[in-house]
Amino acid sequence: MQIRSRLYVFLLLVPVFFSCSAQKYIPFPYAFEKSIEADSAAVVTAHPLATRVGISILRRGGNAVDAAIAVHFALAVVYPQAGNIGGGGFLIYRDSAGRTAALDFREKAPAAATETMYQDSAGNVLPEKSRFGVFACGIPGSVDGMWEAHKKYGSLPWADLLAPAILLADKGYQITEKEAQQLSEEKVNFIRYTRMVPVFVKMHAWETGDWLIQKDLATTLRRIASRGRDGFYEGPTASLIEYEMKKQNGLITLEDLKNYNSVWRTPVEFDWRGLHIISMPPPSSGGILLQQMLGMLGDADLKGMGFHSPAAVHLMVEAERRAYADRAMHMGDADFWDVPLDTLVSPHYLARRMADFNPDQATASTNVEAGVIKTSEETTHYSIVDAHGNAVSVTTTLNDSYGSRVVVSGAGFLLNNEMDDFSAKPGAPNLYGAIGGKANAVAPRKRPLSSMTPTIVTRDGRLALVVGTPGGTTIPTSVYQVILNVFEFDLPLDSAVHSKRFHHQWLPDKIQVEEGVFPEAVTLKLEEIGHVVAPRDPIGRVEAILCEPNGKLRAVADTRGDDSAGGY
Ligand code: GLY
Repeated sequence: MQIRSRLYVFLLLVPVFFSCSAQKYIPFPYAFEKSIEADSAAVVTAHPLATRVGISILRRGGNAVDAAIAVHFALAVVYPQAGNIGGGGFLIYRDSAGRTAALDFREKAPAAATETMYQDSAGNVLPEKSRFGVFACGIPGSVDGMWEAHKKYGSLPWADLLAPAILLADKGYQITEKEAQQLSEEKVNFIRYTRMVPVFVKMHAWETGDWLIQKDLATTLRRIASRGRDGFYEGPTASLIEYEMKKQNGLITLEDLKNYNSVWRTPVEFDWRGLHIISMPPPSSGGILLQQMLGMLGDADLKGMGFHSPAAVHLMVEAERRAYADRAMHMGDADFWDVPLDTLVSPHYLARRMADFNPDQATASTNVEAGVIKTSEETTHYSIVDAHGNAVSVTTTLNDSYGSRVVVSGAGFLLNNEMDDFSAKPGAPNLYGAIGGKANAVAPRKRPLSSMTPTIVTRDGRLALVVGTPGGTTIPTSVYQVILNVFEFDLPLDSAVHSKRFHHQWLPDKIQVEEGVFPEAVTLKLEEIGHVVAPRDPIGRVEAILCEPNGKLRAVADTRGDDSAGGY
């Protein structure tokens, strides 16, 4: 059957909750399902509409990868802060037979990028240049990543997987309170960095329930639906990106777009206390950090110490501190930098890293070598398990909220500002007082170091947990804490995800905590032994699916956002 006629059949047959009268089929305000139990399949994403899209694909017989692709494109429409076609990310896959794969569709630096492109002639860092506008954009990887995933694992026709996103863009959907607030806050930036006023800008402030209709994005998605990868990296979409770059002095060329390639990599896989953990290798630091932090716990009895007890928090934080110090010194795109992966995770090395651990005293970060790199916190994650037991864990991002704030004129989508994840000036503190290493210096076609940690956990050869979160450098520590909460502290998944989190990344030398995470006595004890405990805004938005002992799936969406779980 031709793609076009298949699409037509699909449009006729699927429940038409995305049609013109969407309001009738998608009651607004949306129900945010924070925790559900499912018999066969589950989807958890940052937005209830994207979750619905994933479920509808699974119900039609699509597999977990089909659902992931449909969710990815739907999020690009309904969650413009981080869902994207102008960004990139990472996918971890495990099929029901236990075969695993890791797909890197991280953005790449344009061919014309240089090590000093975010410095002035005197060598001062120019932070605005790597954060806003076209100069901050890496070559997007999402469409190529979804195309590669579909080529390898997809079972439903490609165009069918884009159909829900096209309808949502074309006919529109109602925005949530959080989205309304954030779109309104970004108005100035959208006007400043985009040549033609995009649909994200309204004369008056956005309100909850306003309709967002994205006709240009629908047209772009139609090109991708009919031409696949080439509908983005060649032809009209590529020309519109190139035109945007030329008009605003950006670096991405038609050649850069044509040459973009996502890469299947060998996942980071390791055993830990009866679990088998599968996560992302470089250019993400996530998998290595997770293995390091868990490994540095040695044989400590965390449960015996107590959940959020001073002893347990202190040990976990000291492991975090040391792992993040390694991140800055040793981690970068392994295609460009020799990441000493085997050494970093060897039991001998990890034991040596913890040799100076003192259970009664915080280690000063000045006594721990290396430097740290800042990453932004606006990203998104989705977890999917299909009825066959195949699992997908994807974290994807534009970097900042709404990325570079550049909407490609005429094409309707936001471009990332992923170049900010590079070290703007190796060896010198950046705007945030963070120090970047040579390993993550800018270079043509290189990928910036990430913290994204899409993860799948198995036990006794069976799927146990699919998990991930946004949150920049806090991503690996959030995944680490959720794994410990479930498997060491024996918390139900709801509590494991919803309980407050803490984070240490070596520098700045403080435990960043969500307000109210610890009882006062615990905070006082941590301070007494030398920690600085600093409250901050919420950490991460975890989406997790747990295979329960009774064979059911528990899907939990984080209460920190509009996230929603679904299943059947
Ligand atoms: N841009 C956030 C990250 O890749 O970690």
